[in-house]
Amino acid sequence: MIDREQEKRIVARRALELVEGIELLGLGSGTTVATFVEELARSGLERGLTVIPSSSQIEEEARRHGLKIADPGQRRPELTIDGADEVDPELNLLKGGGGALVREKILAANSDYYVIIADQSKVVARLCSRRPLPVEILPYGHEWTRELIEGSLNSRSVLRMSGDRIFTSDNGNYILDVECQPLDDPESVEKALKLYPGVVEVGIFTGLADEVLVAFGEEVRRFVS
Ligand code: A5P
Repeated sequence: MIDREQEKRIVARRALELVEGIELLGLGSGTTVATFVEELARSGLERGLTVIPSSSQIEEEARRHGLKIADPGQRRPELTIDGADEVDPELNLLKGGGGALVREKILAANSDYYVIIADQSKVVARLCSRRPLPVEILPYGHEWTRELIEGSLNSRSVLRMSGDRIFTSDNGNYILDVECQPLDDPESVEKALKLYPGVVEVGIFTGLADEVLVAFGEEVRRFVS
């Protein structure tokens, strides 16, 4: 019986095929991407490759495995490999479980090709079926921003904590986890929430994934937008 961790490794290995010939690679965040970094370092493909990490978590992993690191804002990555919390049939994504959604979205939007790798537990019919919606907000007036978001979605939310402290993202912001109903129209929710003052980014990624690789046991299925 193949478990989730094995599926992450199977899909991470499969994604190595996409890295051949790539010089600048964007890295998303989370445990699946960390497994990918491990496999990349093991493959020897990392020679001649530079990575742009999306978070302190994955930067640490990349450094630990001796990968060459570049800052964002110069050349755009030819490819970015990322994970997701949920993927729907239109390849819309729910992201931000690890709090890296802002930088992940910046990388996704500025990469020539954006690929998600996932185990089968991430596949859903509608986003927010299993997980709350992460929204990164500014600390300033965060209670007001929270009220606006809860009112807009008619939903309760939880301010993400780390132990007994408020969790802060790599950008120094807070994350709200909004307990919304499964989304029929994720794009309109993404756009509506983005307009509120205090909202930095929404963990809904629509129209960004070029390809999604999902491990179902040993089989990897490929979905292309
Ligand atoms: C980080 O904030 C997230 O967007 C991750 O990409 C997502 O949570 C997937 O993480 P796992 O690979 O750990 O499930």
